[in-house]
Amino acid sequence: MEQKSQIDLGQLEQVAFAVQWKDDCCVLMDQTKLPGEETYLRCKDYREVVRAIKELIVRGAPAIGVAGAYAVALAAKQALQLASASEQMGFFEKATAEISAARPTASNLRWAVEQMKAVVRDRWGAGAFEMLNQHAIRIHEQDVSCNRAIAGFGAPLVVPGEVITYCNAGELATGGIGTAVGVIIEAFRRGRVSRVYVCETRPVLQGLRLTAWEMHKRGIPFTAICDNMAATVMKQRKVTAVITGADRIAANGDAANKIGTYGLAVLANHHQIPFFVAAPSSTFDLETPTGAQIPIEERSGEEIIGILRNNRPKFPLPVFNPSFDVTPSSLISAIICEKGVAKPPTQKSIADLFKG
Ligand code: MRU
Repeated sequence: MEQKSQIDLGQLEQVAFAVQWKDDCCVLMDQTKLPGEETYLRCKDYREVVRAIKELIVRGAPAIGVAGAYAVALAAKQALQLASASEQMGFFEKATAEISAARPTASNLRWAVEQMKAVVRDRWGAGAFEMLNQHAIRIHEQDVSCNRAIAGFGAPLVVPGEVITYCNAGELATGGIGTAVGVIIEAFRRGRVSRVYVCETRPVLQGLRLTAWEMHKRGIPFTAICDNMAATVMKQRKVTAVITGADRIAANGDAANKIGTYGLAVLANHHQIPFFVAAPSSTFDLETPTGAQIPIEERSGEEIIGILRNNRPKFPLPVFNPSFDVTPSSLISAIICEKGVAKPPTQKSIADLFKG
């Protein structure tokens, strides 16, 4: 287990901000409109943030954790407008439960809401909004520094060559420079990445729409591929690593991430290409023993069928749309976290990371 992240990413600027806090509003970049339009949604009501999380206006496990924290602060502000303390606390309880449940798979959302609730436990009063606002900003800042440490730990693991990434685990998915994409950015800066293959990521194309946009903004050479082309790319090109993010990591290192990640890990294993998962400690759920217990969100079939636009079939078209899958730890070469690297990820190497 490595324990020292040896780089200074001080001069590395962010080129996009998925979540911001401005004038007591949670400002979200509308990711459903990318790459065509850069538009922002200003949320004053926690329910607008909940809707944005459900509709993937803001998505990516750490980013929804940060947005969820700001939503809790907004809920406190709204609660404080009610007359009695018991009405206020009732509103706040209900709001935090709604925020927490907005998406079920990512650990970060529940983790952030629990952190926020702890701030005002037994301390509810006129100062609740201010305390919660400050804490949400701390959660946001903490994610920025986690991303930087992850990049520092991950970059040296990448053998120089071309890499594959999946979904979007970059600036749009976090508070900072990204997890998997942060590692890629730093490895590129060190001359270790010559090209990034961006899997399109069906059904809602986070790779083709979002990661490609980020790569373009950063000037990192990239090539988009359909998900079913990854095996051919691994066979024909000089792929030296596959790097993805995660939504929840169980105590034994099994990792839930965007549907299709598991298949990519199987392919990487077959081609003897290292498969890395990069995630902050807020993504780990050490109370969940293995991947089998991770709840997997199922989303509307419309996400799959929508591609047919005006060419809909005249017959019923049943679909299955699990949003995430679980990659067993046996297929993961290393999990890169801000606390260090679990290599290989096992119950023990992960527990060791969390001891210090
Ligand atoms: O459904 P999404 O777009 O929220 O899924 C996101 C992913 O699967 C990411 O890879 C994961 O959240 C890690 S983001 C740093």
